[in-house]
This record gives sequence, C-alpha cells and structure tokens, in this order.
Amino acid sequence: MKLLVCYLLAITCVLVDADKGERILKLTEVIKELKALNRTVTHNSVMSNAPSMDTEECCSQSALKCFRAMVPHLKAKNKTLQRKVIKNLNNRMILGSLDSCSQEEREKTVCQGCDSYPKDSQKCVQQLESLLQKAISRLA
Ligand SMILES: *[C@@H]1O[C@H](CO)[C@@H](O)[C@H](O)[C@H]1NC(C)=O
Ligand SMILES: *[C@@H]1O[C@H](CO)[C@@H](O)[C@H](O)[C@H]1NC(C)=O
Repeated sequence: MKLLVCYLLAITCVLVDADKGERILKLTEVIKELKALNRTVTHNSVMSNAPSMDTEECCSQSALKCFRAMVPHLKAKNKTLQRKVIKNLNNRMILGSLDSCSQEEREKTVCQGCDSYPKDSQKCVQQLESLLQKAISRLA
C-alpha cells in the first residue's frame, strides 16, 4: 500500500513539474507580446506619481483583472497584437500562476479597486509586466 502511494506521489510530482514549465513558457510569451505591444502604443502621459499596484500577496489575481481590463484601452497601433495579449491574459494558466493563495485567503483579503490603479498607460504596462515577472520568479 505504501509503495503504491509513493508511486502515485512520484507521478504527481512529475506532472506538477511539467505544468510549471508550461506556465513559465506561457508567462514568458505574454511578457514578450506585451513588450512588443508597448512599442506600438502611443502613451497618454509622462510617468507620474501614479498610484501603484496592490502589494498584498493575495491581491495578484485582482490586480491582473484590473490590468487586463485596461489593455483594450491602450492606444496601440497593432490591434492584432493587442487582441493576442488580451486573449493570453485571459488564459487560466496565467491567473493560476500569480500566487499560492487559497480561495479562502483571497476572500479574506481586501484588495484595491481597479479605480485606484494608475491611469498612466506607461506605468500600467510596466506594472503589468512586473506582475508577470513576479509570477515567473515564483515558479522558477
Ligand atoms: C502585429 O502583430 C502581429 C502578431 O504578433 C504580427 O504578426 C504583425 O507583424 C504585427 N504587425 C505590424 C504592422 O507590426
Ligand atoms: C514601453 O514603451 C516606453 C516607450 O514608449 C518605454 O519607455 C517603456 O520602458 C516601455 N515599457 C515596457 C514595460 O517595456
């Protein structure tokens, strides 16, 4: 019986690892696309002292949702790329890679509303990128 459990655990570990690699690839892909998109964006202002992203660990998903809602409003020249970034940000793998909070912890945490996120497009892109980078370093 014990052997079987060990065996099953080993299988689980292997599956988890493969999944991790896939998540990192996906995150890397979105960051690359986001950077390419950023280059086609006409930014709405200079970097100001705009409010920053929520730093509460269990607010990462809420932060991603706020940034995702802002991407369609970027003045981007490449609409194809813009749609691609939006689609990829909707990928469940991305949402699931941001933190290790449980549903219960998430519900207990009070997060900033999207209104308090920066309106400055350049800062938005930058903070979205660092949110995704953080997810990669968490997985790596
Ligand atoms: C826009 O982005 C798409 C998808 O990444 C790319 O294939 C295409 O060459 C880009 N178009 C322009 C005009 O840069
Ligand atoms: C976005 O593009 C601006 C220039 O238009 C650049 O200053 C900024 O660093 C870029 N941000 C990212 C996250 O690549």
